[in-house]
Amino acid sequence: MLPSEPHPRDQHVRIITLDNPPVNALSFAYCAKLLGEIRAAHADDSVEAVVITGAHGLFSAGADVNDFQAEMPANAVTIRDVIAAVEASVKVHVAAMDGNCLGGGLELSLACDYRVATRNARLGLPEIRLGLIPGAGGTQRLPRLIGARTALEFMLKGSSISAGRALELGIIDEVVAEGLIERARALASEPKRRLSERDAIIAKDLPLQAGPYVVAQAHKMVPPEENGGLAAHKLIDAVQASVELPFVFGIGRETRLFDELVRSAPSQALRHLFFAERELDKIPGLALSGVALRQAQGDTGPRGDDTIAKAAVVGAGTMGSGIAISLAQAGIPVVIVDNNDEAVDKARQTVMGMFMYQVQKGRLTQEEAWKRGQSIRFTDDWNELSDADLIVEAVFENLDVKREVFRKLDAIAKPGAILASNTSTLDIDALARETKRPDRVLGLHFFVPANIMPLLEIVRGRETSPETLAVAFALAKRLRKKGVLSGNAFGFIGNRMIFDYVGTANAIAEEGVPPYRIDAVMKAFGFPMGPFAMSDLSGLDIGLAVQKARGGDANGRTHVLERLIGMKRLGQKTMAGFFKYDKSVGKGREPIRDPQVEEIFAEEARNAGVTPRAYSDEEIRDRLLGALVHRGQKLLEEGIALRPGDIDIVYVYGYGFPPHRGGPMWYAEHSTLSPFDKLRVTREPTHA
Ligand code: 3HC
Repeated sequence: MLPSEPHPRDQHVRIITLDNPPVNALSFAYCAKLLGEIRAAHADDSVEAVVITGAHGLFSAGADVNDFQAEMPANAVTIRDVIAAVEASVKVHVAAMDGNCLGGGLELSLACDYRVATRNARLGLPEIRLGLIPGAGGTQRLPRLIGARTALEFMLKGSSISAGRALELGIIDEVVAEGLIERARALASEPKRRLSERDAIIAKDLPLQAGPYVVAQAHKMVPPEENGGLAAHKLIDAVQASVELPFVFGIGRETRLFDELVRSAPSQALRHLFFAERELDKIPGLALSGVALRQAQGDTGPRGDDTIAKAAVVGAGTMGSGIAISLAQAGIPVVIVDNNDEAVDKARQTVMGMFMYQVQKGRLTQEEAWKRGQSIRFTDDWNELSDADLIVEAVFENLDVKREVFRKLDAIAKPGAILASNTSTLDIDALARETKRPDRVLGLHFFVPANIMPLLEIVRGRETSPETLAVAFALAKRLRKKGVLSGNAFGFIGNRMIFDYVGTANAIAEEGVPPYRIDAVMKAFGFPMGPFAMSDLSGLDIGLAVQKARGGDANGRTHVLERLIGMKRLGQKTMAGFFKYDKSVGKGREPIRDPQVEEIFAEEARNAGVTPRAYSDEEIRDRLLGALVHRGQKLLEEGIALRPGDIDIVYVYGYGFPPHRGGPMWYAEHSTLSPFDKLRVTREPTHA
């Protein structure tokens, strides 16, 4: 019997099952159907109560985000209409939740009288991540349920929580190990109780008069409206309304704010990123193979030979240990091979320190931390790599060294094993040529720190097979990273673009704009740091090597870098680079303006006959963003990047591009920036 059919023994409880695969999204079309079912239950006198549950192992992922991409049709039926029908009914409603219960889905449950969930349920109001606020009563009902202060924190974060945590917070009434529907039926005989009829509360320990203080504090804690905080401020306004206004007026306020936000530029940009992220593994000509796909979905059943049951990392440096931690966190046992005892000792400490930190933060129990720590082994015996399904090379960034490693790996690794390089610039084909399995060689470019940064560039060599790529995409999902496909070209997508960006910043500085001002402009745009602070972080020696390989900065020169390096100013690691650093200022990580460096720029400019030029802040910003966008465009033309959205994901998740601006390619298309006439292009990338 289908769950939505009335049970012969319980004719008085109607079970309505949300069923709109894959995620039971509450689209306009689906809401029209659902509203029909709900109205039928209400109109049926034999039905005394309604249980709402979900098919496909989840309740609902919320409103259908696709519906927000166009003006709402006048006759559209929305989740608000469904909720209004539930609210108006005299019958008891119970939400029986399993799996994801997000956004409008959770809001529907809040309109019910009781909420019961399985242990697998995950509850969240993630609208803020789309630049929106909950728009189907969530901002008015949740504060009445758990208090405005906690509700605000929950909605501002936007992350989902476990059923256990939801029970602690009071969002749900019960968690069951089994018999979800049976328990929901039982709750259906309890008396009706609507959140809309409750008075608002601030928090258990705070009187209603504390409302203005809580609201004022919240406004202070979120970013400014014009720089990523628009939805956050509107959310606070909506919650304020829940405390100050009667329920129906609060709902009216929420609706107005939501409708305003749907049309706002930041929300459009964030929705673009949502869809771009879901496009990433849709590669023309590449269907994820069955086993790889199951693995991506967390299936722990029997594994085929194209899955990763055991991994290895070559090189115990910062990158190698970060990659190993990332693999271990995903439950993949990993062995790190390195012949340098000092590096191994340091890596052991890093690994231990990382897991201890997670225990301190309450993210792992002692036991879990111990288990994960144990799943990373160190060795100096390369033969231990022979049973690994994936080997990631993370040795010194030098083609000859890496070639040698690949030759060695090919001889030791089992026939089906995938060999990956973590190079950030070098030629994957040159490495593949050292092996007899070029179809099983690719680049896996992790970002520092590899266990934290959410981006993974998956670099396809000339002969990398579709199966190898499929496994790489499945791995990215398992590591909870955004896997972005890149062609094999110097610097791939992210670094290739950043070289132009940094080179342009150097050229502008030569024209007389101090580095601190250039950095300040880009920080004001929303980057966490400017191009010079970023260069100091990655090291000027690395920057010089790259610039030499590329033929200099945007003006074709490297003199300033050479002079700074000559003065042992290598960046943060030597407490001086383009800026000075002082241990007593921001733990030695805060860039301090250094007139000496500005003088060096001026001298080199005079030597090269560069005429100083005044720049407005907008010109600095547009020229730097233009450098990114222009290179991005070239990468698309050359087929190195597949889609503009892929580039945007790389920049938002790998380089701190402000998400509310959608990534460089989105920004260029949706702002007044016209990069193509503002640039000077440096030499073309090629490995040929
Ligand atoms: N609307 C439309 N499509 C959605 C969707 C949504 N809310 N949620 C997921 N999908 C689609 C995805 O685009 C994808 O489509 P595809 O197969 O064509 O690529 C498919 O469902 C599967 O999604 P994922 O690949 O992301 O699957 P995962 O299992 O990795 O993740 C998830 C599932 C956790 C539900 C994740 O998709 C997610 O976070 N979805 C968004 C949830 C969300 O933001 N909800 C709030 C919506 S706004 C709202 O409710 C407004 C209300 O307040 C009025």
